[in-house]
Amino acid sequence: MDKERYQYEVSASGRVNLIGEHVDYCGGKVFPAALSLKNYVFVRANGGDRIRLRWTDIPLEVDLEIDKLESYREVKYANYIAGSLYVWREAGHPLVGADMLFDCKVPFGSGLSSSAAIEVSTIAAMCAITNLPLDKPAIALAAQKAEREYAGVNCGIMDQYASACGVAGHAMLLDCATLACEQVPIDLGEYLLVIANCNKPHNLVESKYNERRAETEEALRAFQRVLPVESLAEVTAADFARYGTLLTGKVYDRARHVIEECARVEAAAQAMKEGDLPALGALLNASHASLRDLYEVTGRELDALQEAALSSPDCIGSRMTGAGFGGCTISLVKAAAKEDFIRTLTERYKAKIGYPPSIYEAEISDGITIKKL
Ligand code: GLA
Repeated sequence: MDKERYQYEVSASGRVNLIGEHVDYCGGKVFPAALSLKNYVFVRANGGDRIRLRWTDIPLEVDLEIDKLESYREVKYANYIAGSLYVWREAGHPLVGADMLFDCKVPFGSGLSSSAAIEVSTIAAMCAITNLPLDKPAIALAAQKAEREYAGVNCGIMDQYASACGVAGHAMLLDCATLACEQVPIDLGEYLLVIANCNKPHNLVESKYNERRAETEEALRAFQRVLPVESLAEVTAADFARYGTLLTGKVYDRARHVIEECARVEAAAQAMKEGDLPALGALLNASHASLRDLYEVTGRELDALQEAALSSPDCIGSRMTGAGFGGCTISLVKAAAKEDFIRTLTERYKAKIGYPPSIYEAEISDGITIKKL
């Protein structure tokens, strides 16, 4: 890879969410952090009217015509990039011909938001070569729009926001209704976070995700008949106790998860600020149980991984992170026992599921970075 040929190295992050799962699209608060697992874009303006895409580890060459960006929906790997640039342009921003080399260190399909990292870094790269000031929240919103309209996942704002606006050493307490964002220092004392991928093959995230989202919208419509609320996150525990009977079956369970998870996010941020790690661990466990029993997005593999983590005396909390249906767990583990923990986790998970998990080493890092080359 000949870096000198490019003007900038631009990066955006994958993310973990500490807690606040499946609440971003309900106007709730989430608590994600940006990872040092990133997508890198090496970029330079080329003076033409095409955006030439290349990858460090995928033998593929795609040239995008700036005036036809809407027509690459079916082109694997290039679709997220074309979609992001398309949305950015539709929002009134300039695009210029460019050479872009992609180097993605966020494992694909891991649930750590490789797609958000690609979308966000693509737009940031275009900002760099068009000399636009870096408006990270605006980039996150455009990237989310690309994911929804171009990739067809009706997602919330959490992933793209964390990918763009993350701050090293901090988790962001992000209010998804207002986008008010408080950066909370991550101080885990004698503990650390272990990220493990359950490696479940072929998960159907998109369709199931959109289905859950529709169920929460149905719940909201029912509450709106009796309460002046604009989002499900505004429904309080007391409201739910009173009006929950308006909902039936699965829709009741989904709404209960959202309302209780929103309360857990506040409690978790407080526990983090007070350095109360056992309280944080208990909240992670409660979140997983709710995602398993009420929201039904865990599945056999993620449950086995969480149980294997909790079977270690050195783990004080574990949960799935991200959309679910596969992907990763995070576990709060005594730092001194990390290697033992990983060994036990791997053995017990493999004994139950038949193949091992993957463990990722990552720091909590800055979101978008731009380096002049
Ligand atoms: C995916 C979506 C996010 C969020 C999570 C679940 O990662 O992209 O917007 O909804 O699932 O919390």
